[in-house]
Amino acid sequence: MLVKNLLKQTDQLFTLNSNLDKKYESQILLSNLLNKNIIEIILNNELKITEKKKKKFLKKIYFRNLGKPLSKIIGVKEFYSRQFFVNSYTLDPRPESELIVDCVKKLKKIEKNNLKILDLGTGSGCLLISIILEIKRKNIYYVATDKCEKALKVAEKNAKKFGIEKKINLIQSDWFSNIREKFDLIVSNPPYIKKGHIKNLCESVKSFDPYLSLNGGKCGLDAYKIIAKHSKKFLKSKGLVCLEIGFDQKKDVKRIFKMNDFRIIEEFKDLNKKDRVLIFENKI
Ligand SMILES: C[S@@+](CC[C@H](N)C(=O)[O-])C[C@H]1O[C@@H](n2cnc3c(N)ncnc32)[C@H](O)[C@@H]1O
Repeated sequence: MLVKNLLKQTDQLFTLNSNLDKKYESQILLSNLLNKNIIEIILNNELKITEKKKKKFLKKIYFRNLGKPLSKIIGVKEFYSRQFFVNSYTLDPRPESELIVDCVKKLKKIEKNNLKILDLGTGSGCLLISIILEIKRKNIYYVATDKCEKALKVAEKNAKKFGIEKKINLIQSDWFSNIREKFDLIVSNPPYIKKGHIKNLCESVKSFDPYLSLNGGKCGLDAYKIIAKHSKKFLKSKGLVCLEIGFDQKKDVKRIFKMNDFRIIEEFKDLNKKDRVLIFENKI
């Protein structure tokens, strides 16, 4: 069958009731399946598709119709203008999380020599890998952790993709359980959705992002409480903690860190003018 004829059927194939750009999604799915870039798919009218590949294409559309995100079907998602591998064990990187990378780039501390940075709950590795690629510094030591070993495998694959696997020490750890050293900076985008709210999230999130990456406990604050309580042991003097937060969590997270002897030094809103990143300093 010719690809152009298959693409003509697109409207009938997608039954998902949403504002999908069906043509674009079909082109992306085909380019992923045929290992060709999207321009080749669009320009090459006479491209043929085998019956086997067509079946695979229809299967992908079937999953798309069930609400599976395009990224989880093709296995990649863009973050900070780079394509990261993702799978069912990793949270799909979110555009609002790019703010952490911007904030870290602006930190004065980043100029220091022999810096150590820890990423807690790295998932696909998108935050730390973007930080490494953006700040382009040689003498920084990086550690990324996650409780989920399968997510760490994806982070490793991404680190290899960008040729920086030797720079990152990936450690399976329940927050700080397997951490043995002190850092200048801890970054984290921890799970922060209230447990009881997960069922209200859209299908693509609640069914396809890992529960571990979403569940912030009863009040959505469990991870912040743990990070605030234990960070001091793993931070150097005047070390920083840079955190993504839910848009309505600023007051609570500031209170939690204040109770644990941290000073708020900066707060940032995302592009939608929602509170999104807080930076705390270890007072000691
Ligand atoms: C919101 S996701 C963030 C993923 C990635 N850093 C990002 O920004 O896209 C939270 C991550 O924390 C990890 N996580 C959840 N509980 C954890 C724990 N107890 N210890 C370490 N990591 C944990 C999850 O597996 C998930 O990868």
